Amino acid sequence: MYGKIIGTGFYVPDNKVPNEFFESIMETNDEWISSRTGIKSRYFSKGENTSDLGTKAAEIALADSGLSPEDLDIIIFATMTPDTFMPSTACLVQKKIGAVNAFAFDISAACSGFMYALAVAKEFLENGKVKNALVIGGEVMSKALDFTDRGTAVLFGDGAGAVVLQRSEEPGIINSYLGSRDDVKGSLVLKALPVDNPFVSNENDTNKMTMDGREVFKFSKQVIMDTIDKVLEGTGYNYDDIKMIIPHQANTRLIDYAIDKNDKLKDKFYINVDRFGNTSAGSIAIALSEVRQKKLVEAGDLVILVGFGGGFTWGSLLIKM
Ligand code: UT7
Repeated sequence: MYGKIIGTGFYVPDNKVPNEFFESIMETNDEWISSRTGIKSRYFSKGENTSDLGTKAAEIALADSGLSPEDLDIIIFATMTPDTFMPSTACLVQKKIGAVNAFAFDISAACSGFMYALAVAKEFLENGKVKNALVIGGEVMSKALDFTDRGTAVLFGDGAGAVVLQRSEEPGIINSYLGSRDDVKGSLVLKALPVDNPFVSNENDTNKMTMDGREVFKFSKQVIMDTIDKVLEGTGYNYDDIKMIIPHQANTRLIDYAIDKNDKLKDKFYINVDRFGNTSAGSIAIALSEVRQKKLVEAGDLVILVGFGGGFTWGSLLIKM
């Protein structure tokens, strides 16, 4: 049995923020941002939280699938910017869409989160424990950004994507590969609650994301091609069989690097970071949804999803559409 994609959807806030916006709040410019990252604009929330974006994406994916919320058995939400630690964002979505028969939980694996969530859903679908799954990747990154730090604030955006999967005898998710290792230098960090109790005080702790861009770039370069190769291993498929690769949308320079490493994959990478920025766990989910919406892939096409990010974490999926 397989987990097969039967519906997708994505949602971003309607507040489009071009690079020029940052010129008014920090020392930067469109030329620097677009030449270093490929990003031209992103969307920032004007109040909607992560569960709101996820709910809208989920409603679109459900409509696309033809299922109703009551048909869902499991909801997994990948995010590092939850509305609340408790309830989980998945539980908030469950309530908002009325998925009364599902169980729901969040997964935290930063920009690889959607890969982790899909891989977990795959196992539940294959072992027959569930029939219908909703997997969401989404973030309101803008609430985690330090808008005095030009090295990070310009890179990220808000948004969510959702996928509805159904247990099927037809091939769907064929293989998954996940990995993680110590981010020794702490180069990508978003702190949660500090220990702050009658015995210790942490008044000066920041809850904004910090990043050493060069270290993250170095790590991402190392894992991206390997993560693509690993998910093909043992499947009998090779690069020529792949119609499209949907990478985590972090930076066009990273994708260029991957393409340089392997000419056979040229023209297979789908890129939308120019319009959405880096939406972390939302990025691959949004891109996958866009690809289906634009009919850039057809039933039977093989697609690889590949994510990498904080933790460090990485992951990939080989999917027959
Ligand atoms: O999901 C994973 C998330 N993270 C990433 O994808 C980040 C991966 N890393 C990168 O994409 C790149 O490292 C960046 C785009 C973040 C930075 O590019 P870089 O070529 O590594 O620049 P840098 O950090 O070495 O900084 C070069 C210069 C510095 O100025 P000085 O010290 O040379 O005078 C920075 O202060 O660029 C400056 N700089 C900026 N200048 C204008 C940093 N951010 C900006 C900015 N506008 N927004």
